[in-house]
Amino acid sequence: MNALEAGSIVAVVGSGAMGSGIAQVAASAGHRVILFDTRAGAAAKAIGDIGRVYARLVEKGRMTAVDADAATERMQVAATIADVRDGAIVIEAIVEDLDVKRALFAELETIVGDDCILATNTSSISVTAIAAELRRPQRLVGMHFFNPVPLMALVEVISGLATEQHVADSVFATAAAWGKNPVHAKSTPGFIVNRVARPFYAEALRLLSEQAADPATLDAVMRETGGFRMGPFELMDLIGHDVNFSVTRSVHQAYFGDPRFTPSVLQQEMVNAGFLGRKSGRGFYRYGDDDVRPAPQTEAPQPRPDSVSVSMEPGTPHAVTSPMEQRLAAAGFTVAHRKPLPGAAAHEAPAFHCNGAAVFLTDGRSATERASANRHPDTVLYDLAFDCAGAGRIALARADQCGDAAWHAVVGLFQAAGFAVTRIDDVPGMVVMRTVAMLANEAADAVNQGVCSAAAVDIAMQKGVNYPRGPLAWTDAIGVAQVVTVLSNLASGYGEDRYRISPLLRRKLAGAPAGARFHA
Ligand code: NAI
Repeated sequence: MNALEAGSIVAVVGSGAMGSGIAQVAASAGHRVILFDTRAGAAAKAIGDIGRVYARLVEKGRMTAVDADAATERMQVAATIADVRDGAIVIEAIVEDLDVKRALFAELETIVGDDCILATNTSSISVTAIAAELRRPQRLVGMHFFNPVPLMALVEVISGLATEQHVADSVFATAAAWGKNPVHAKSTPGFIVNRVARPFYAEALRLLSEQAADPATLDAVMRETGGFRMGPFELMDLIGHDVNFSVTRSVHQAYFGDPRFTPSVLQQEMVNAGFLGRKSGRGFYRYGDDDVRPAPQTEAPQPRPDSVSVSMEPGTPHAVTSPMEQRLAAAGFTVAHRKPLPGAAAHEAPAFHCNGAAVFLTDGRSATERASANRHPDTVLYDLAFDCAGAGRIALARADQCGDAAWHAVVGLFQAAGFAVTRIDDVPGMVVMRTVAMLANEAADAVNQGVCSAAAVDIAMQKGVNYPRGPLAWTDAIGVAQVVTVLSNLASGYGEDRYRISPLLRRKLAGAPAGARFHA
C-alpha cells in the first residue's frame, strides 16, 4: 500500500504537544496541513511556534530558508472542524478520553470523504473501542507518535479488530515517508512500548524496595554496565511519577490485574508525597539549585590479585563469560582454563576462580543460595554488561558466607580489569540481568500473543525508548537458555506469577536447545 501523496492534505485535530509535533513533521514532508483545536487561538499559536522551530533549524543549517518558508505556508488553521473535509487523513491528538474521542470521530465521519483515513494518537485507549461506534470502523487506525514527535523516530501503527490491513499499511508507508520508523501492532493494552517497558521501571522499584542499592547506584549500573542512556530512577523523575505510575496502573488494570504489571507501593508513596520528579523539584533525586546528585556506591581500591583461572571447557565459548575472560586477559591476566570437574553441584561452570573465590555470572539465584548449593562459601556474582569490553562499571554481589579476603580479591580483579566496582546487596538476578530478562520475557509474550513481530518489538524499544539493543536481540546475544534460567530462578525464588516464563521462550529453547534465536 502506498504512502499518502506528498501534496495531499493532512488534518490534525488537537494542537497541543503531540498535535503540533505531528503537524510540523507532516508539513516538513510536503503535505498541506490543516490544524484544528477547540481552544481559541491554540492552532494559530502552534503554527507560530512551529515557524520558530523552522527558523532555528535554518540558523543551524539543518533546513534551507526556502524549505522553511514553504513548509510554514503549507500549514493553516481550521476555523471550524468542517474545514478538515478535504483531508486524506485526519490525525487526532486531543484529550485522552474515550467518550470525547468517540464523539470527535463520529462527527468527522459526517465531514470527510469515504477514502479519508481516520487516525488516533492515543497512547492508552483501545483503538478497537474508539472505532466501535463508527459507520465505517475499518478506516480507523492508531498512529502512535512519541514525544517529542520531531525527534522520536518510532510510530506504532495500531490495528483495532475492525481496521482494514490496507489502512494500516498506508499509514505505515506514510510514517516511513516522513522519515519515521513505523512498526505494526495489534490494539492491546500499552501497545508495544508502554507494555514492554514496564519491567524497566518495575524491577528497578523492586530492587530499591529490597534495598539492593540506592537509586544513584542502581542508575549508574543501568547506564554504565547496562548501556541504557538513562537509569530508571532518573528517567522516572523526568517522566514524572504521577504519569509513570498512572501508565503502570492503567496497563495493570487493562490486563485484569496480571501480577506481571503490579504497580509499586514505593512509587505510590512518591506520588502521595508529591515527590513527582523534576517538575516538583523532588523525586528520587532533589532538583534544587544547590543539590548535587549523590555518587554511586563504588568499592575502594583493592590490590590486584596474582592470578585467575576459569573452569570452562576450552573451545566452548560462553556468550558472557568469554568476553569477560578477554577483558581480564587484556588487563594482563593469563586466564588458565581448568576443566570443570564432574559433579555439577560441587563445581558449577563456567566460573572464574581467584584467591579461593568462585565468581559466577548471575543466573537469577542469589550468591548466598549458590554458595550454599555449591558448598563453596566464597562466592561472588557479577551482573550482565551490555558491552563487556567497554563497560566502565560492574556490579558484584557477595554471598553472606563469603570471607573478606576472597571478596577483596574479586574486587581487585575487576578493578585491575578497569571496572569501577559497585557492590549491590545479594538480590536474585542482580540489576541489569534481571531487568533484561524481564524485558525479554515481556517482548517474547507480545510476539507470542501476535501483538507484533520480533523485529517490530526490537525496533520499538530502540526507537521509542532508546534502549541500546532490542530485548530479543539481547536475548539472542546472551542465549535464550540464559534468559530462561534467570527467569525460572526468579520465579521459583520469589514464588510469584510475575516472573512466569513466556511460552515462546520455552518453545524456542525446546526447539533448538543450543541455538535458539529470535532473529536470523
Ligand atoms: P495536550 O493537552 O498538550 O493537547 C491536547 C489539545 O487538544 C489541546 O490543545 C486541547 O485544546 C485540544 N482538544 C481537546 N479536546 C479537543 C476536541 N474535542 N477537539 C479539538 N481539540 C481538542 O495533549 P498531548 O500531550 O498533545 O496529547 C494528545 C494525545 O496524544 C492524547 O491522546 C495523548 O494520550 C496522546 N499522546 C501523548 C503523548 C505525550 O507524551 N504527551 C505521547 C503519545 C501520545
